[in-house]
Amino acid sequence: MCSVVGYVGNAYCKDLLVEGLSRLEYRGYDSAGFACLSADDNRLMYAKSPGRLIQLKELLDKNPMDGFIGIGHTRWSTHGTSTQENAHPHFDCKKRISIVHNGIIENHHTLRGDLLGKHLFVSDTDTEVVAHLFESLCAQYATCKDALLALAARIEGAYAFIILDNESPDQLILARHRSPLCIGIGEGQMYAASDPIAFAGKTNKVVFLPDATCAIIKKDSIELFDFKGNFLPLEVKTVDFAWLGAEKDGHEHHMLKEIYEQKRAIHATVSSLAAMGDTLWSSIGLTKEQSRAITSLSFIGCGTSWHAARIAQFFFEKIARIPTRVLLASEFRYMPFFPEQKSMYVAISQSGETADTLEALRLVKDMGMATIALTNVASSTLVREAGGFLLTHAGQEMAVASTKAFSTQVAALYWLANRLALEKEIITPEQMQAAEHDLFVVAQVLEDTIELYKHIIVETLAKRYAHKTKAIFLGRHISYPFAMEAALKLKEISYIFSQGYPAGELKHGPLALVDAETPIFLFSHQDPLIYQKLVANAQEVKARSGHIIAFVFEGQDELCKLADQAFVFPRVAPLLEPLAMTGVMQFFAYQVAKELELPIDKPRNLAKSVTVE
Ligand code: M6R
Repeated sequence: MCSVVGYVGNAYCKDLLVEGLSRLEYRGYDSAGFACLSADDNRLMYAKSPGRLIQLKELLDKNPMDGFIGIGHTRWSTHGTSTQENAHPHFDCKKRISIVHNGIIENHHTLRGDLLGKHLFVSDTDTEVVAHLFESLCAQYATCKDALLALAARIEGAYAFIILDNESPDQLILARHRSPLCIGIGEGQMYAASDPIAFAGKTNKVVFLPDATCAIIKKDSIELFDFKGNFLPLEVKTVDFAWLGAEKDGHEHHMLKEIYEQKRAIHATVSSLAAMGDTLWSSIGLTKEQSRAITSLSFIGCGTSWHAARIAQFFFEKIARIPTRVLLASEFRYMPFFPEQKSMYVAISQSGETADTLEALRLVKDMGMATIALTNVASSTLVREAGGFLLTHAGQEMAVASTKAFSTQVAALYWLANRLALEKEIITPEQMQAAEHDLFVVAQVLEDTIELYKHIIVETLAKRYAHKTKAIFLGRHISYPFAMEAALKLKEISYIFSQGYPAGELKHGPLALVDAETPIFLFSHQDPLIYQKLVANAQEVKARSGHIIAFVFEGQDELCKLADQAFVFPRVAPLLEPLAMTGVMQFFAYQVAKELELPIDKPRNLAKSVTVE
């Protein structure tokens, strides 16, 4: 999950590439690097640094360098730790070839073995192997294109790379297999990047490299060809986007800003879905008749997106009466697959770039099944590859911990379940309107309850729980996947070991973990029967001197009394309980991490967009 950027043109490139990298740092922040050819004599100049981009910037300030052609990288380590040697760009022995890479070269061991003896390796990375191999191939083949095709034939795995060759100082060499890469077309200049947001504001004319293709770009030309060498026509898209990400609107962290944006984001998402009218069907790639005939739904995603789908399973099964499965993309790919013709596969991903989710989508598509992408990024690979798509309108999410993307996914899926129910005449148009209204109401509850509880969380609770070493999250029915999401939120930003369990499973093992020191977060439910079961679970915990933090609904006094700390929420439409509790849950996790003075927006070892398997 690294990011690559490149530039060739009439302008000095250092500042614009570093700016591009800062926009893409969400993809990885273990180390960073930059290389360019000097404007005077095409001499290779470079700087690499472990750590954040800011450290590379400091290095570049101390050792100024610039040119009209250059490449840059931020890294999320796959092979080798975060050191200067392992930072990109990587080079061949003579430093003729400089390469930045996002992906994993799966046969790098074999290739390295073949090259050892003739080449000197200085890093542990798979990428360095490509630099040495390409240099050898350039010596064997008459043209750069032929060497590149030979390279593509030798390497296996996922890659998006940009190569700078000192001997061709007017061009950048690009190749893409399964990892995203695009070209921005400017006036007498070309940009290349993992994500077009890197050059937003400079140009909106974008060529997304199709899978398994290469390109050679000069300041005023692009040659695009497939791995057999066939030239391909350029599909230039006008992408309407702006870079707004750096602003925190006065908040200390992006995560906090994004927590507070959720009401607006849910409104924007629901309003835009409601305004689609019959264009909904063409967008998701189904006719109305086909949508009525769907016999089952399968959601595929990872992390928070998977949790959103687990919550939505209740919507589709209860409201639209469609049997629904929710699959973890990373597992699904290696399990037996039984395609059902009238089934619909929905790949769910905030970024639309998650490698596991994309690969799962490709697998399903190859079986001839209908696919839909639900994502927050209109220009993402998932949108381009799925049969149809639906967008959430959360706006750019910068913090690694997903907040508004999660709540808008849940809101969009609630809306869609109701819309399918309407189409199947299970609900009336009035009930559809009521469902939309309920979403606006719950968005208000989400926001109001943060306001209600923020002082006690900041002043008392965050301090009380920040130094715990583990936490347990319990729920039942729809509050169980929400408990898993809450556990993920706390662990990823506070590094406190957190585990979500179905409350009913407590006595089958996890009860052994209960003691007075371990906070147990319990998420209630409005259904009286499920509520009673949760009360029983709370009693079991209290009988063992456990410590309970309960998220309850108005009138749930018994659970409230059992709790050491309770957050009380207004009653909302059935099945929208998780959305009501979302704001307080996220705010709580945020404050605990803040209390611990951790890098909340960029937690250790993680990246926003997980583009490797
Ligand atoms: O972009 P995606 O929704 O596909 O990302 C999937 C997960 O990597 C992501 O949801 C991750 O779990 C969150 N950052 C957690 O907050």
